[in-house]
Amino acid sequence: MNLLRFDSESAWIRTVCSVWRDRLRTTPDLKICLPAGTTPAGIYAEMSRSARAGLVSFERARVFALDEFGGLDPDDPGRTRHTLHRQLIDAIDQPPTVFHFLDPDHPDLAQECRDYDAAIGEGFDLMLLGIGLNGHLGMNEPGSPVDGSTRRVELEGTTIQSSARYFAHQNLPHWGLTVGMKTVLASKEVWVLANGAAKAGIIQQTVRGDISSANPASLLRRHPNCSLFVDAAAGALLDTPGRL
Ligand code: PGA
Repeated sequence: MNLLRFDSESAWIRTVCSVWRDRLRTTPDLKICLPAGTTPAGIYAEMSRSARAGLVSFERARVFALDEFGGLDPDDPGRTRHTLHRQLIDAIDQPPTVFHFLDPDHPDLAQECRDYDAAIGEGFDLMLLGIGLNGHLGMNEPGSPVDGSTRRVELEGTTIQSSARYFAHQNLPHWGLTVGMKTVLASKEVWVLANGAAKAGIIQQTVRGDISSANPASLLRRHPNCSLFVDAAAGALLDTPGRL
């Protein structure tokens, strides 16, 4: 796992976007998996500006949503699909023609999940991930199997509570659909993004603690091409930058 730590949130955003633009230039049909959540909002805003300025194009990229909340109104703005539309897809002139998302209202969820895995294939060229306070990746909560595929999952209490920020109501989702750890670990390149002091503890555990499915993010220390991008606040409890 490579650790990249930045003095400021703006430097963290600038660097993530610079490398992401480079990946899209090198591989215009990049197969990318994207999270919603608060972490990547500034990164998506900067990438949207880059696309509008003609510095990068998403037109040929193949974009997949990482997860989706269940039990909500289909139009709920807090759904992953709508957040990604608002923050990135609808904010660029030439949006990706391919945007896959999970439908939690599908009458056969097992089939919906199998179809999603079939559309993804072996893994992504690039996965962007936030990290939960409990180390979850997407909705792969602690204890998720390393060979888990896309599936329905129940959310932990801390995850439900933190999701309150995404919704303008109190009907918080207690389940969702998520791409599984098998696909995370099979992806060619994985970036874990973390900003803010609230993430300092879980970042320290992820980097220095045991490698165990009790902290799904720690499993990425065995991934051959995973980078952890942290700002100063999220990286405050780490000592040595570099390869871990
Ligand atoms: P956040 O969520 O980006 O809103 O902090 C991250 C996560 O729970 O995966």
